Amino acid sequence: STRTVNTIADLRAVLDERRRAGASVALVPTMGALHDGHLALVRRARELADVVVVSIFVNPLQFGPAEDLDRYPRTLDADVAALAGLGADVVFAPDVAEMYPSGSAAGTKVSAGPVGSRYEGAHRPGHFDGMLTVVAKLFSIAQPDVAVFGQKDAQQVFLVTSMVADLDLRLRIEVVPTVREADGLALSSRNRFLDERERVAALVLAESLDAARTSAVDGVSELLAEGVAAFGDHDGVDLDYFVVVDPDTFLPVDDAFSGRGLVLVAARLGTTRLIDNAFVEIG
Ligand code: PAJ
Repeated sequence: STRTVNTIADLRAVLDERRRAGASVALVPTMGALHDGHLALVRRARELADVVVVSIFVNPLQFGPAEDLDRYPRTLDADVAALAGLGADVVFAPDVAEMYPSGSAAGTKVSAGPVGSRYEGAHRPGHFDGMLTVVAKLFSIAQPDVAVFGQKDAQQVFLVTSMVADLDLRLRIEVVPTVREADGLALSSRNRFLDERERVAALVLAESLDAARTSAVDGVSELLAEGVAAFGDHDGVDLDYFVVVDPDTFLPVDDAFSGRGLVLVAARLGTTRLIDNAFVEIG
């Protein structure tokens, strides 16, 4: 049966007991409003460890002042029911005061480094510092053997993996491929904010990645040109960035690059911002 705990002390007590009995622990950090993308992470975690912990915490530290913290969907009862169906052992659902007793503005922060202010970080200043801070806290609280993240948030995966290496954290990061709707749209808790027309237009992100993948044999400039061109005939879609990075450094590749690249795209549809990414074989 799935147990919900709301305090750090209770979570530690539950996990200490299981670890003393030799159990391994997998952690799946989320902000709730769970969809099939999140659930794929939980299924993977179920395969990897004896005890599966899913955290549900809408982290104020990673939202900017003008961002959607207040309208972020909160569906805890449905989330817990879905997690019980997958055999998750523990749901950790702390409130803000439990995680940030001295207020979220005060206190020590993890700094993401230079990659943290590019791409998503350029549009959301402080986002990745806030994300890494809460992830570091969750790692410290749960002390998992493995933590599971989605490739959907490619820059997040890169920065979490970098933090684990840079700070010698003793856990493994497991990455699960992006889960998509039948038509290609990457699942996101923000998709529910799209109206009918925006939902149709949102397909352009996946289409632009397909165009980039197809033209990648012809090199970086051709890939970028074709990817951006996919946005040409879509009204009401504002492209934020379309870049190809070296997956090892997360820095933009130059025109002569060949090998495995990672294409990142972000676009705004009305007030909703969507991101997607895909690996491509260049040259
Ligand atoms: P959240 O947006 O709730 O996402 C939780 C996890 O689900 C992340 O690892 C994310 O990459 C993954 N995910 C979301 N959509 C997915 C999809 N379509 N396919 C595969 N995985 C998907 O990311 C966060 O929360 C927060 O930043 C968090 C790490 C919890 C820190 O607050």
